Amino acid sequence: MRVLSGIQPSGALHIGNYFGALRQYLDLQHEHDCYYFIANYHALTSVHEAKELRQRTLEVAATFLALGLDPQVATIFLQSDLPEVTELTWLLSTVTPMGLLERCHAYKDKLAQGLPAEHGLFAYPVLMAADILIVQGNLVPVGQDQKQHVEVTRDIALRFNNRYGEVFTLPEPLILKELAVIPGLDGRKMSKSYGNTIELLDDPQVLRKKIMSMKTDSTPVEEPKDPEKDNLYALFRLFAPEAELKEMRRLYLEGGAAYGAVKRRTVELMVERFAEPRERARELLAHPQQLREILAAGAERARAVARPTLARAREACGLL
Ligand code: ADP
Ligand code: TRP
Repeated sequence: MRVLSGIQPSGALHIGNYFGALRQYLDLQHEHDCYYFIANYHALTSVHEAKELRQRTLEVAATFLALGLDPQVATIFLQSDLPEVTELTWLLSTVTPMGLLERCHAYKDKLAQGLPAEHGLFAYPVLMAADILIVQGNLVPVGQDQKQHVEVTRDIALRFNNRYGEVFTLPEPLILKELAVIPGLDGRKMSKSYGNTIELLDDPQVLRKKIMSMKTDSTPVEEPKDPEKDNLYALFRLFAPEAELKEMRRLYLEGGAAYGAVKRRTVELMVERFAEPRERARELLAHPQQLREILAAGAERARAVARPTLARAREACGLL
């Protein structure tokens, strides 16, 4: 099975990215032929400072590696090191109905957040389709918000295949129900654009401050609380060992759960979980040249797969 996924370097990676996507990347890398990339072409639709984009890109690369993505096992690369993808984007554009893109909610959401209505933002799903189709990906691990884009990719691939013959494999999204939408500090979906994130590499003090200042209701300790409706519990459950989670659930349901204690324990568990990657990422970032070399080697491997796909697509549609 070929797996492909990407993350934009539009901000520091957060625990929504981790549970929604990155953890699946890690789990899949030893079982499948995996391609993971940093979507810096995509990020141009929202990051407009060159210096910031460069820095963010290196940070995402360092975070990937620090979490345990292994460049000897998975192919890890930078989208802009694979220029074939932009050529394929054009070919796919010519089979993409406007209506398909007009229906995409991510575009509308981004306009609502204040991003300029530019063509790149509108055509973003076509570039994403090219990312997936150029390696003939079967499986795309993502969070719920990207489901529609993978469906659009399937539509585009089908239309190309119908018009020119079977060239592209139709991909499937891989979305884990329990982890499809990780809530942020305010209970809405955790997202860079809502400013409600807990970043993977946050310093323990920052992390502590964020969690301790989360809003909770005024139900007294001894009264029962609905764990399904509590945002703090939703974060706690991501980190707690099974037995501890079971016990906490009981306390919520029967009474006895103190929000302050749950917060302190959540901080502890989070700090513990990411202490090592945080350190490793820092070390990796101190050697940006090495990161570039790892990404360049990954790009060579990705291009070896991308070139023949692009050649087939060009041939199929009659480009001499
Ligand atoms: P953001 O919404 O913060 O800009 P991205 O769009 O860069 O995040 O997301 C990168 C990956 O992480 C995608 O696969 C996306 O579906 C996943 N993801 C992002 N936020 C969440 C979340 N809160 N819950 C689950 N998955 C998420
Ligand atoms: N659009 C994705 C996001 O914002 C990032 C992305 C770009 C991607 N190309 C992709 C994800 C291909 C999966 C497959 O999160």
